[in-house]
Amino acid sequence: MAESQPWWRDAVIYQVYPRSFADGDGDGIGDIAGIRRRLGHLSDLGVDAIWMSPWYPSPMADAGYDVADFRDIDPVFGTLAEAEALITEAHAAGLRMIVDIVPNHVSSAHPWFRKALADPRAPERDLFWFRPGETMPTAWVGEFGGTTWTRTADGAWYLHLFTPEQPDLNWGHPGVRAEFEDILRFWLDRGVDGVRIDSAALLCKDPTLPPVTEGRPHPFHDLDEVHEVYRAWRRISDTYPGDRALIGEVWLPDAERFAHYLRPDELHAAFNFDFLGCAWEAGKMRACIDRTLDAHAAVGAPPTWVLSNHDVTRHVTRYGRADTTFSFDNNLDGTPVDLEQGTRRARAAALLSLSLPGAAYVYQGEELGLWENENIAADQIQDPMYARRGHTRDGCRVPLPWSGDAPPFEFSTAEPWLPQPAEWKDRTVQAQTGDPSSMLELYRAAIRMRRAEPGLHAGAMTWADAAPGVLAYTRGPDFACVVNMSGAAVALPDHDSCLLASGPLDGVRLPPDTAVWLRLPARGQ
Ligand code: NOJ
Repeated sequence: MAESQPWWRDAVIYQVYPRSFADGDGDGIGDIAGIRRRLGHLSDLGVDAIWMSPWYPSPMADAGYDVADFRDIDPVFGTLAEAEALITEAHAAGLRMIVDIVPNHVSSAHPWFRKALADPRAPERDLFWFRPGETMPTAWVGEFGGTTWTRTADGAWYLHLFTPEQPDLNWGHPGVRAEFEDILRFWLDRGVDGVRIDSAALLCKDPTLPPVTEGRPHPFHDLDEVHEVYRAWRRISDTYPGDRALIGEVWLPDAERFAHYLRPDELHAAFNFDFLGCAWEAGKMRACIDRTLDAHAAVGAPPTWVLSNHDVTRHVTRYGRADTTFSFDNNLDGTPVDLEQGTRRARAAALLSLSLPGAAYVYQGEELGLWENENIAADQIQDPMYARRGHTRDGCRVPLPWSGDAPPFEFSTAEPWLPQPAEWKDRTVQAQTGDPSSMLELYRAAIRMRRAEPGLHAGAMTWADAAPGVLAYTRGPDFACVVNMSGAAVALPDHDSCLLASGPLDGVRLPPDTAVWLRLPARGQ
């Protein structure tokens, strides 16, 4: 990677979902001991950083996104000392560490909320959104669907944009700001290289609690006041050595409003959900890439390329459907999937996302080509979204298969907390290692090549002429990527060599749903 720019501008960042990565103590739930034991997998993969989904003490009403104490580790995952040891070991292995901070809400088991609930006159009530009254203060619809207010025993209502176990904090209160600035310092002091900020655009609310009205400012999405929170965080992270990064989870359809979060005195990066949700269609993909590049260039921030995470249907499954888009409002669960097509496209998408300018994210298991497990029995589903929206995110959270012929595939010695498909016996790390046609070896080769390829760091991206349904672009003087999203094979452009292909080539033709990285003839020859 080019030394001249901060790491977060073009890193490959691997998301570890700790419940499902590797289980060290045999209770069927992943933990820090398991992650430490399997760190070699991430070194072999060649990623630059790990983003750790929440590992804090939590009643797990929302898989740890309901945090009861931001300065400790849930016993199911281990101890703070183990977390510190993991940070040290990751650094020694050349891996940076990013932790997840959840500032919009806390768990209802957090001491602040317990005190607020116990006594209507407790000063902690002001840290949340409590309102009196016989009827619900607003008819807002929550982020998981359903209402956003719950009534307390003393007849007040409190606001929760997610589940009732996740009361929203009042970011108008200086105590909330001070607390989170301190939490940020707590983890930066422990050497983490960055934080991922959960629900980053939701923190501030219009205190007059107006209804959501078309054409009027939204009462809780993307209020201007939220930017001051991140300016304060940036002032803090800038005081630490070593390029610490603030990375926002910002779901906003408006590219310009999205880019506001990435102004030079705010966040360093944010997830590109526009790309994640985009259809597997060259025209739409190209427009999405252009929108992304333009919006980020305007503020000098690096784009990010995200295909999957712990909230969305895995992209092998998405790209195997007739409708290849993703949106929470368009539930495609259970619609027909062609896993072979999805896998072919996921392989091509890997070469696409790893060769665009900016940082790339890999969600654990995508390097194994895992698909969504859509066969989890209703009584095993744990995701609170399921009851509210009829869609579960559990299918993308299933524990990783490491080796062996049958579940639990060495993830654990016990039954995993969510069931693994028996068909994953071909997708274990062990089964794929050394098989040049496997997804895992494709990711390893692509990440290794990306690291070594100067054009993929400093090189500008330029679209090249291509047949309809095909994306082709160059990076630097002699690197090109071609992705065939059309239904027919196409001729490859003139090239000196093929560096990497996502699937077998048909002579010098690129088959459908296949991508290649090419070395172009030196210019002027
Ligand atoms: C976004 C997280 O990624 C998701 O998993 C969680 O349910 C919500 N924020 C609430 O924290």
